[in-house]
Amino acid sequence: MSRFSDRLRNLPAFFKDCALAVSTGEKASRSTASPFAIQGMNVAYHNKAVVRDLNLELQPQRLTAVIGPNGAGKSTFIKAALGLVPKLGGRVSVFGKALDRQRHLIAYVPQRGSVDWDFPASALDVVAMGLYGRIGWIKPVRKHHLDTARHWLEEVGMAEFADRQIGQLSGGQQQRVFLARALAQNAELYIMDEPFAGVDAATERAIITTLKKLKAQGKTVLCVHHDLQTAPDYFDNAFIMRVTDIASGPIKEVFTMENLQKAYGGRLPEAELQAILSRQSGRDGIALQ
Ligand SMILES: Nc1ncnc2c1ncn2[C@@H]1O[C@H](COP(=O)(O)OP(=O)(O)O)[C@@H](O)[C@H]1O
Ligand SMILES: [Mg+2]
Repeated sequence: MSRFSDRLRNLPAFFKDCALAVSTGEKASRSTASPFAIQGMNVAYHNKAVVRDLNLELQPQRLTAVIGPNGAGKSTFIKAALGLVPKLGGRVSVFGKALDRQRHLIAYVPQRGSVDWDFPASALDVVAMGLYGRIGWIKPVRKHHLDTARHWLEEVGMAEFADRQIGQLSGGQQQRVFLARALAQNAELYIMDEPFAGVDAATERAIITTLKKLKAQGKTVLCVHHDLQTAPDYFDNAFIMRVTDIASGPIKEVFTMENLQKAYGGRLPEAELQAILSRQSGRDGIALQ
């Protein structure tokens, strides 16, 4: 058994709550069904409801931002939808079928805080792991896996750090490694939890360029994004939520004072929300009402 395989067995400890297993297995043809649909989802931690009757129907081949304040349940609804935390109820479908049949179509990049950075894996290992099947299903590493992993590290400008232990990388570099891992999975649906958090401007640009490339290839991206200022520049659509869904659709349509107040009311001053909306209107040439 290789050292790498030993490491794979420890994966749940490494990724803690994000041990979603995906592989580059056979692709289901893209169907017309929503890439990611959730109906009536409820999630509670210690009997406290944190997600209540949440509904989502993601539009295919779009970049969609999940928008909502800290503690809104953004990470939780995603983890519950992916089966990484239990849900109390609700239905989830991926391209019209049950999640279990479609996992190979999803690449998931967890929020940075949920990763164990002490895990003895190099940047190359982390990307190569994205090429493997289910956790616990151990196959030997082949040279072509490593070559593929190296290719994707190059794509995100991280080739020179291939052998660096992941804990020894900066926040932006770690995020690029996870992006390379998601890309290596060649998925149809990319779900990323705050990929821009704590990264430098160059990494932010690299990530958004990559997301736009994915969209051009016909992929669907759902991305938790906390920056209301940049959201209209980066994303086509927004899913605004706080415990439950508030609005969903093209950003220009759903970024209204009413929707943002429902989400951020009491958390962000109205003047700040107004400034965000004014900026957007100015850019789009729309007069503010
Ligand atoms: N493992 C957990 N155990 C108990 N409560 C949790 C856990 N994870 C998150 N929470 C709580 O659930 C709520 C939603 O959290 P989260 O989904 O992380 O929000 P967001 O990603 O929108 O910031 C918060 O009140 C948070 O404190
Ligand atoms: Mg979160």
